[in-house]
Amino acid sequence: MAAADVLVVRHSVVSLAVAVLFVTFPHVSATRDPPHETRYFNQYLDHFNYASHGAETFQERVLVSDAFWRKEGPIFFYTGNEGPITSIWNEVGFIKDLAEKFEALIVFAEHRYYGESLPFGETTFNKENMGLLTVEQALADYAVLITNLTASYCEDPDVCPVIAFGGSYGGVLSAFMRLKYPNLVAGALASSANVYMSAGLTPGNELFQDVTEDFRRYNPRCPERVREGFAEMERLAGQGKQGLHEISSRMRLCSPLQHHADLVNMYRWVREAFTVLAMEDLPYSISNGPSLPAYPVNASCDLLLKASDGIEGILQAVGMLYNFTSNLTCFDLHRDFVPCADPTGCSLMPGAQAWDYQTCTEISLLESTNNVTDMFPPDAFTEETRAAHCWQRWGVTPRPGWLATQFWGKDLKPSSNIIFSNGDLDPWRRGGVLQNVSSSIVAMVIEGGAHMMDLRVPNPADPQSVIHVRQQEAYLIGRWIREATNQRE
Ligand SMILES: *[C@@H]1O[C@H](CO)[C@@H](O)[C@H](O)[C@H]1NC(C)=O
Ligand SMILES: *[C@@H]1O[C@H](CO)[C@@H](O)[C@H](O)[C@H]1NC(C)=O
Ligand SMILES: *[C@@H]1O[C@H](CO)[C@@H](O)[C@H](O)[C@H]1NC(C)=O
Ligand SMILES: *[C@@H]1O[C@H](CO)[C@@H](O)[C@H](O)[C@H]1NC(C)=O
Ligand SMILES: *[C@@H]1O[C@H](CO)[C@@H](O)[C@H](O)[C@H]1NC(C)=O
Ligand SMILES: *[C@@H]1O[C@H](CO)[C@@H](O)[C@H](O)[C@H]1NC(C)=O
Repeated sequence: MAAADVLVVRHSVVSLAVAVLFVTFPHVSATRDPPHETRYFNQYLDHFNYASHGAETFQERVLVSDAFWRKEGPIFFYTGNEGPITSIWNEVGFIKDLAEKFEALIVFAEHRYYGESLPFGETTFNKENMGLLTVEQALADYAVLITNLTASYCEDPDVCPVIAFGGSYGGVLSAFMRLKYPNLVAGALASSANVYMSAGLTPGNELFQDVTEDFRRYNPRCPERVREGFAEMERLAGQGKQGLHEISSRMRLCSPLQHHADLVNMYRWVREAFTVLAMEDLPYSISNGPSLPAYPVNASCDLLLKASDGIEGILQAVGMLYNFTSNLTCFDLHRDFVPCADPTGCSLMPGAQAWDYQTCTEISLLESTNNVTDMFPPDAFTEETRAAHCWQRWGVTPRPGWLATQFWGKDLKPSSNIIFSNGDLDPWRRGGVLQNVSSSIVAMVIEGGAHMMDLRVPNPADPQSVIHVRQQEAYLIGRWIREATNQRE
């Protein structure tokens, strides 16, 4: 993280009105990252079936900070998503600033089957142990934990309002917490939450279309260049083995493509790189995970246009992501990209297995490409392709309609107090809520904003749009807290 990140945090959110940059404060780093404890909380393996595992429990990892906590203050609860909660803690800075402002207890809960929260230890990812990985079980974990927290921290458990926060799939979960447990959660900030896409309620060609659009927006010649590169690869592939060999060598692959299926996998690996560059199109460089330069779309597009031809251009662009360490001698497709029920691919990390299972069951991510509305080779990811993979890998068949039935589909109106925020550069945004649903279920669009941008650690390079959205979010959250507190008095 750049030193400059550290300096500005206090200003951009806590003293919202004063946008003073580059002023040193003695304890600023503590503000961005308040000291926290790691706790392990006993959760029932199965919240819904009393007979299946009896009273057996597993340990859920929870990060807690009471650095800003005032007794009877609110509890800010991050609903962990598909990864170790420690890395989410590092990436999400806005909540900590808000917690200081509202004197809140900060809690980041890890999602079951990710990080250290493995219900069956080393055998967690065995097929027969996967059945307890559902959205419902994860939400129940959070609900039980919240009940325990309010009981242990608040002298009068009725007075500490809980606000749920989450980004991406975690944003989906924070919104669902408000839908399902309004008795426990006074409101939710759901950032880049693709609730409609996850429930299979979107057309299925928007994600990669919007990746393409991000590149077109910077320079219309960019998507053309990418298309040229793919067309040249297709031409070479048409020549058989020799052609596949030439593609492999020009793309610097560690092991040469053997079959057409390998080529398709390579295309998806390329597509994933462009998707990440578009998602992470931030005005500052990042280093939590792969390090990328500021405005990676602009930067990779410049490389594409400077390259001698389309294939070389694609190579340069994907190198920005996969070779961010600048030390690879060749690209190992099988390391970077594991095909799964998420068309953007999975990794070799243990959590990726869990995510594959989730996208094989409740979560739909059926996004395809067609080389017409997007710049990528045609690749239809259908319910049938998904079902075939899921049966082969996990012995399960997806139930496409279930999530919409269980979590209200597109009819969110009966709920209240949810903010859905999205960056207009984030290719996932059309999977979420972009229109106001009611006076208290509001959509906020961050102009020039990337994936989960509002939740990130505030940065001096943040555009006015994200600063403004964070102010509105702080205002609404303040109102929910006041309302919840008044109701209870
Ligand atoms: C909360 O959970 C902890 C750890 O599992 C337990 O020791 C404690 O008794 C619980 N507190 C309440 C009030 O339920
Ligand atoms: C990056 O491109 C966008 C247009 O897509 C433009 O608004 C922005 O100013 C560019 N940033 C830089 C640093 O070139
Ligand atoms: C990775 O980056 C380094 C430094 O720019 C470069 O020398 C190397 O060839 C790149 N590797 C690949 C596979 O492109
Ligand atoms: C490249 O550098 C990274 C980080 O510095 C290191 O973890 C990795 O092992 C290196 N890879 C190779 C192929 O040398
Ligand atoms: C994409 O479509 C163009 C025609 O619009 C065609 O020339 C090109 O070969 C297609 N590319 C791929 C990879 O199919
Ligand atoms: C939703 O309503 C709020 C005011 O409550 C407004 O600031 C915001 O711009 C609206 N969002 C959209 C997408 O129209």
